[in-house]
Amino acid sequence: GNAKQAASYYCNKLGFEPLAYQGLETGSREVVSHAVKQGKTMFVFFSEMGDHLVKHGDGVKDVAFTVEDCDLLVQKARERGAVIVKEPHTLEDKYGKVRLAVLQTYGDTTHTFVERTGYSGLFLPGFQPSLFKDPLLAKLPSGKLNFIDHVVGNQPDDEMVPVVEWYQRNLLFHRFWSVDDKQLQTEFSALRSIVVANYEETVKMPINEPAMGKRKSQIQEYVEYYGGPGVQHIAMNTSDIITAELKILVDYDDNGYLLQIFTKPVQDRPTVFLEVIQRNNHQGFGAGNFKSLFEAIEGDQHARGNLTILTPNGVSKNM
Ligand SMILES: [Fe+2]
Repeated sequence: GNAKQAASYYCNKLGFEPLAYQGLETGSREVVSHAVKQGKTMFVFFSEMGDHLVKHGDGVKDVAFTVEDCDLLVQKARERGAVIVKEPHTLEDKYGKVRLAVLQTYGDTTHTFVERTGYSGLFLPGFQPSLFKDPLLAKLPSGKLNFIDHVVGNQPDDEMVPVVEWYQRNLLFHRFWSVDDKQLQTEFSALRSIVVANYEETVKMPINEPAMGKRKSQIQEYVEYYGGPGVQHIAMNTSDIITAELKILVDYDDNGYLLQIFTKPVQDRPTVFLEVIQRNNHQGFGAGNFKSLFEAIEGDQHARGNLTILTPNGVSKNM
């Protein structure tokens, strides 16, 4: 809803730096965007998403990937049936050119392909340096967040596999890791999850769907409040989680370990939240941590009146 406020939250609370701005002052009459950066992670906050904002509330509209050949990827995805929202096009300013295209993925979420060939500007053509520079920011400790580790998508019932197949078919991703509802359940609720990854396994996208439990799944709660499928959480990788916060969840196997912390939802609706993750020779997603995370979310879900009992005919009722 308020991009400037969101951008300054990320700067003040999570150690991001204001990077670039687009708005009336830069000649953008329709959209205001604030870009912030930390390590290799960039977030862009839009203040006006029209119908998207009304339907979904604040949320993730687009997950962008850096690509080497935008045109070839779009051509291949189109041949396999992907919906192209914006055809490949070039943005240009005095710092060079960037080639972009936008594909439809689950729900109203999109993927932007960004091909930078020697572009030397701050962020993208059309952006100028941020208008707000908080002098206190330089004094705050770095958040030590390096890159986006994974971005999780929640789907309605029975839509996980078709979405997984979309990534396999159109982006040539492969199944990286999966759990069924036998593993991912608490006393009350359950979910299924399959992680897809690109060839190099630098991009990981876990895809969730609700599974039958005694109470309504937290994935179902998300889908109802977001108004369909969407991004559930964004995990940012750090090499120093201890600096970040307390209440760290630990998962391990014979070779390594995983440390994770999660925020509450970052907007009024119980939808998108953030994760900070530190990996030490462990490429899993914290199957062991899911239970404690879900129990924590269930506590909040119960407080919201949404940890409802599921009856055999699929109708849920409150306690
Ligand atoms: Fe995660």
